[in-house]
Amino acid sequence: MRTAIATLLTMGTALGQSPSVPATFTSAQVVRGAQLFLQHCAVCHGKAMQGKIGPALKGHPFRATWFNASFQFTGKSLYKFVSQQMPLTAPGSLSKTDYLDLVSYILSQNGIPAGARPATRSSLARLELWKAKPRS
Ligand code: HEC
Repeated sequence: MRTAIATLLTMGTALGQSPSVPATFTSAQVVRGAQLFLQHCAVCHGKAMQGKIGPALKGHPFRATWFNASFQFTGKSLYKFVSQQMPLTAPGSLSKTDYLDLVSYILSQNGIPAGARPATRSSLARLELWKAKPRS
């Protein structure tokens, strides 16, 4: 299942623009994302993203998938997956802004620091996760 998702996402991102521009998200997005996560995601992924019915969304093995050089996922790959597949019981039911906030929160929980500029779908496409050097 995971491999199928990985293949699908790689196909979508392989042709994306390439320059590795530092692109992040703001701490305000992270704060909103954390609230949304508790409302819509924690029931399956755990309040601290530790995993429950759904997999953990921070640490290993999450990073082994999403920050893996052989898949070359960007922040936008993660955005696409989350916005098209999650919440599992109501995929695509949240707004674009909500999904951007949620992805910002997930990235921050995986050691990517917040910055001055808000994440957008196009800035996330330039965030090459396999090149990220998570802080924790
Ligand atoms: C009803 C339970 C449920 C809810 C609610 C839910 N998820 Fe999931 N989520 C899952 C399951 C199960 C998987 C594993 C699916 C798979 O591998 O095909 C998953 C997978 C994921 C993944 C990929 C994890 C990985 O290791 O690759 C992400 C990211 C994710 N969910 C984010 C979210 C976010 C964000 C929300 C809230 C908007 C959410 N999920 C809500 C059950 C849920």
